[in-house]
Amino acid sequence: MKILVTGGLGFIGSHTVVELQQEGFEVVIIDNLSHSSLDVLDGIKAITDIKPQFQKLDLKIKKDVKTFFKKYNDLAGVIHFAAKKAVGESIKEPLMYYENNISTLVYVLQELSELNQQNFIFSSSCTVYGQADILPITENEAIKVAESPYGNTKQIGEEIIRDTCKVNKKLNSIALRYFNPIGAHPTAQIGELPIGVPQNLVPYITQTALGIREQLSVFGNDYKTLDGTCVRDYIHVVDVAKAHVVALKRLLDNKNDYDFEVFNLGTGKGSSVLDVIESFEKVSGKKLKYQIMDRREGDVTSIYAETTKANDVLGWKAELTLDDAMASAWKWEQKIRNK
Ligand code: UD1
Repeated sequence: MKILVTGGLGFIGSHTVVELQQEGFEVVIIDNLSHSSLDVLDGIKAITDIKPQFQKLDLKIKKDVKTFFKKYNDLAGVIHFAAKKAVGESIKEPLMYYENNISTLVYVLQELSELNQQNFIFSSSCTVYGQADILPITENEAIKVAESPYGNTKQIGEEIIRDTCKVNKKLNSIALRYFNPIGAHPTAQIGELPIGVPQNLVPYITQTALGIREQLSVFGNDYKTLDGTCVRDYIHVVDVAKAHVVALKRLLDNKNDYDFEVFNLGTGKGSSVLDVIESFEKVSGKKLKYQIMDRREGDVTSIYAETTKANDVLGWKAELTLDDAMASAWKWEQKIRNK
């Protein structure tokens, strides 16, 4: 079965391609290489022995999307990762985010509606919840006004799919709301490749440990949490990738209860910034240089998933630990710097 993975050279996309190929799916990747590199194809091949088909394509160019779907009209499913994801950048450049994350989704859904099989997995995010009143957060939690244009693109993205499913009875879709995916493949053949100064915690930690960054800034220790630092649900990227294969199979086997379903992808456990640092120091044996700084604008205090629905309905559970994730992120960082 042929599966299209948009953004398949990115962090979560590439790990999902590995899991798909290991489960026997034929994968076609589209990526515009804006935040990724062709070397990722070699990493995927090194793990799976299969080089996936690849087409460099910018999904913002509608006619190119049309041409692609005319050529690949035998797809059994689409996993749509291609999107921008930096919260701060989205606040500065909202239109770029709306154009990039919304128009591309619309073009893909338009072309998908011409195919026989219309199975669609969407990359959503826990950011759709904002700061929830009750933790852990269930999928039924009310969606609040988004904290950033990036978050808004995920909310709108889900609405676009929901509205489309109402009128297009052939379309079946699952939105996966990721909490904080971190780590790398245990082989260290693929991992996260931030461009420039990392915005996210884990690559900042691993780069600091190697001396690429002088020290980590911990953004605030006066939050109402156990140690005062923000709490997140950090989930190993390989667990996230596996959930995509499970979700896709649910659609392919017509096992879905509704034409549009939503699942949280988290571990169910909240970890503070200091917990993450401690885990890193434990698995790496290195002391991390860090300093407590002011709060970062837009950060919510605490967020972690209720995973019962994903566990019971989807039949998926996160299996790897924070230590596993930190060890794999560290192995990956060392590997890419030794190249
Ligand atoms: C956010 C979004 C998530 C999005 C991700 C991608 C929310 C709740 N989450 O994750 O949906 O996919 O961005 O960019 O909106 N931190 C430091 N120092 C640093 C970097 C981070 O202390 O140098 C802290 C942050 O304050 C935060 C935690 O580490 O408490 C995690 O931050 P980060 O990795 O950037 O992810 P989120 O902001 O949680």
